Amino acid sequence: MTRRKFVAGNWKMNGSRATLGELDAIAAAAREASAVDVAVAVPFTLIDPAATRVPGLAIGAEDVHAAASGAHTGCVSAAMVKEAGARFTIVGHSERRADQHETSHDAWAKATAAHAAGLTVILCCGETEAERDAGRAERVVQAQIEKSVPDHAAGDWFTLAYEPRWAIGTGRTPTIDEIEAIHAIARAKLRQMVGDAADQIRILYGGSVTGTNAASILGAANVDGALVGGASLTAAKFVPIIDAAA
Ligand code: G3P
Repeated sequence: MTRRKFVAGNWKMNGSRATLGELDAIAAAAREASAVDVAVAVPFTLIDPAATRVPGLAIGAEDVHAAASGAHTGCVSAAMVKEAGARFTIVGHSERRADQHETSHDAWAKATAAHAAGLTVILCCGETEAERDAGRAERVVQAQIEKSVPDHAAGDWFTLAYEPRWAIGTGRTPTIDEIEAIHAIARAKLRQMVGDAADQIRILYGGSVTGTNAASILGAANVDGALVGGASLTAAKFVPIIDAAA
């Protein structure tokens, strides 16, 4: 089963109109790496200018609300980010689970709403350090997948990202064996839920991916790409990761 490699950036609450120039070289590298899908999720305020600046690059949102519209002050719907130029959205990121107390059910509702609005989705899962230390990483990830992945998930619109929380922004990564173990479990869980369609769903690894460790991580079994935070903010750091996937 061949799945195209997918390298996605997540700018989180970083960037400004002044830094959008980084996307020029990222878009150029993405054009070069024709066997790799490349995407960058940016803050809501940058979706329109980013999508306008680099129309060939998939620009996305970092979150959407689960409702289509209504009395939700400060929130933004999937249709709104799509109108602004987003092609995809991240949902269920661990920073939203921690800071906004979002649950796996919330991630499910957001993924479902985003798909209905015509966006593709990257849904995140991953254990905390305490959960890993307690030997519960696999069970935690299985439970998150069970509660958050829509049962009609398919590879043409849905991507799963495994991001162990303790590896995010820390410079620490699991071993390749540990990554492969969780990705295999995630694939098996997806198969249980969606049957053969699981073979088409890409599973990304996220957490301290850099140009230095990308090749070995991307070469691991069942790792179909990377979701990259800090190293996606500049072309100098992100392009080597795209190249490693090519
Ligand atoms: O969503 C990507 C992310 O959480 C990983 O961040 O900075 O460790 O690459 P970072």
